[in-house]
Amino acid sequence: MDKVTISTGRPYQVTIGSGLLSRLGEILPPRQSCRVAIVADDIVDSLYGDQAAAAFRQQGHSVCRFAFPHGEANKNMQQLTALLRFLAASHLSRSDLIVAVGGGVTGDLAGLAAAVYLRGIDYLQMPTTLLAAIDSSVGGKTAVDLPEGKNQVGAFWQPLAVVCDTDTFATLPETVFIDGIAEAVKYGVLADPTMLDLLASADFGSRLSWIVRRSVEIKGRFVEEDERDTGSRQLLNLGHTVGHAIEQCSGYAVPHGHAVAIGMAVIARAAAAAGICRDDVPQQIIAALVGNQLPVDCDYSLDSLIEVIQTDKKRRGDLISLVVPEQIGLCRLYNMPITELASFLAPGYKRR
Ligand SMILES: NC(=O)c1ccc[n+]([C@@H]2O[C@H](COP(=O)([O-])OP(=O)(O)OC[C@H]3O[C@@H](n4cnc5c(N)ncnc54)[C@H](O)[C@@H]3O)[C@@H](O)[C@H]2O)c1
Ligand SMILES: [Zn+2]
Repeated sequence: MDKVTISTGRPYQVTIGSGLLSRLGEILPPRQSCRVAIVADDIVDSLYGDQAAAAFRQQGHSVCRFAFPHGEANKNMQQLTALLRFLAASHLSRSDLIVAVGGGVTGDLAGLAAAVYLRGIDYLQMPTTLLAAIDSSVGGKTAVDLPEGKNQVGAFWQPLAVVCDTDTFATLPETVFIDGIAEAVKYGVLADPTMLDLLASADFGSRLSWIVRRSVEIKGRFVEEDERDTGSRQLLNLGHTVGHAIEQCSGYAVPHGHAVAIGMAVIARAAAAAGICRDDVPQQIIAALVGNQLPVDCDYSLDSLIEVIQTDKKRRGDLISLVVPEQIGLCRLYNMPITELASFLAPGYKRR
């Protein structure tokens, strides 16, 4: 099993390995018996809910379970309210624990509930998608969506620990699995050309645990440098400005990782057209994405994307901050007048 320490204000450990769901006692810091609220969507609850509940009961904790309908459409205020009321009805106190078992939707929803319930209680992230393992479970960003936009209600709230049982990836549908690959490609572009090469080889099954560990290390470094996301952590938004706009235009039918893949391709092609990077930069990024069956072209007009980007959190007044690759392994934040965004992106934008 691999361990990565995330040295935020309150440091915590990410443990990655096989069979961890039933070995929680060995991994978690000792804790007095408490009430544990396991939060999972309906799919993950039926796959892993019993196993997770048994593991906590074995440690002497009493367990209650909250299952909600799967999908981004349920990462909303209604589910947050339902979860908070469930916690209150289940008499969770400040010394109790919330456990998010699932993908990024579950982690974001349960993490936000943990941040605001009784002004903040501990929570554990147990990611079961590749995307959650390498991205959303680490770093303490929690949120739900509003009809007006994604992640518009949220908080920074670091987990007590992250436990990633890589065996759970075995049940992932292919499209959900490759969503995570898109974020791994992002880390390769940001910080690790070797990992990008490995991902482009599309023959990395035996190195998946290493990819998770390396991605968590890279994400952890950005989070430690800038926990509140006011500077260098924003580099993790590579591909996300356009990506979030695509997700929203599709009514969240296009999954996060697929949208980010298109976003990275658009920005890399635009950067090459503007002379910021060489042509081989978008070529390498696109090869890694396409090699993993990820999309690189878009179903929506550039105008409709720009309209959505106007409401983006990364907008500050008339400026939008864009993450642009200069080389593989080196990206930079560009603050661009929003009025110039369309002409900058146009050469990188391709309609499917
Ligand atoms: N907080 C952050 O820093 C951060 C970072 C990146 C993404 N996110 C958020 O994460 C979300 C996307 O996460 P996601 O891609 O994990 O989506 P998700 O949580 O919706 O999971 C995708 C689907 O896979 C199913 N599933 C999960 N684990 C499974 C398993 N082991 N076997 C079978 N099915 C399984 C789920 O039921 C769901 O239907 C988005 O809301 C995004 O905004 C947050
Ligand atoms: Zn992302």
